Amino acid sequence: MKVEIAPSILAADFGILREQVKLVEGVGAEVIHVDVMDGQFVPPLSMGPQVCEALRDMGLHLEVHLMVDRPESVQVESFAKAGAGTIIIHAEATPAVDYALELIRSHGCKAGLAVNPATPLAIYEEVEPDLALCMSVNPGWGGQAFIPSSVEKITRLRAIVGDEVVLEVDGGIDAKTAGLCVAAGATRLVAGSAIFGQDDPVGAFNDILDAATSRN
Ligand code: DX5
Ligand code: ZN
Repeated sequence: MKVEIAPSILAADFGILREQVKLVEGVGAEVIHVDVMDGQFVPPLSMGPQVCEALRDMGLHLEVHLMVDRPESVQVESFAKAGAGTIIIHAEATPAVDYALELIRSHGCKAGLAVNPATPLAIYEEVEPDLALCMSVNPGWGGQAFIPSSVEKITRLRAIVGDEVVLEVDGGIDAKTAGLCVAAGATRLVAGSAIFGQDDPVGAFNDILDAATSRN
């Protein structure tokens, strides 16, 4: 499975959002990570489905990370209709994980399941998402430091989900941490501040991809 970098627009300049997305598309980004926060599951509010609507005609794969309580009640459907290609829910956000994953698929989207740093991986023995997201920071804010024990957790997660599942890591990814995650079994890396928080997002994207794939 090829290694992908998914830029997170949480760190982008929303006044020029489409230009920011075009920048990373120009250097090969195919997946854009959309961080949705509800002020409950995590303290901050971030963005709603209108942001997906604003980007959907660009033809990129929009991966929506729902940091919201009970995502199956309304948000899965809202974001599917707004153009999401993948919708990721949190294991901690609902008692109906299997139902929510099937609901996502019923809308024609790939179904992702995330766990916070303190959450055990046992749920991945019970359900089979298309994407498994290992949070490497506590969700809610960009720009946090990568939690080092995530590397060993990624190794354990890959052993559980097998080779066919996209294994994503989110939080504190930069040119230093990217290679560690890929070596442990990750195939998709989310990066926000390490790309859009930099003066040169294009150079930063390339640096992370180089580090992730050892291409030089
Ligand atoms: C954190 C979000 C992340 C965030 C990552 O709650 O889920 O996707 O954008 O930001 P960085 O890359 O700055 O750690
Ligand atoms: Zn995220």
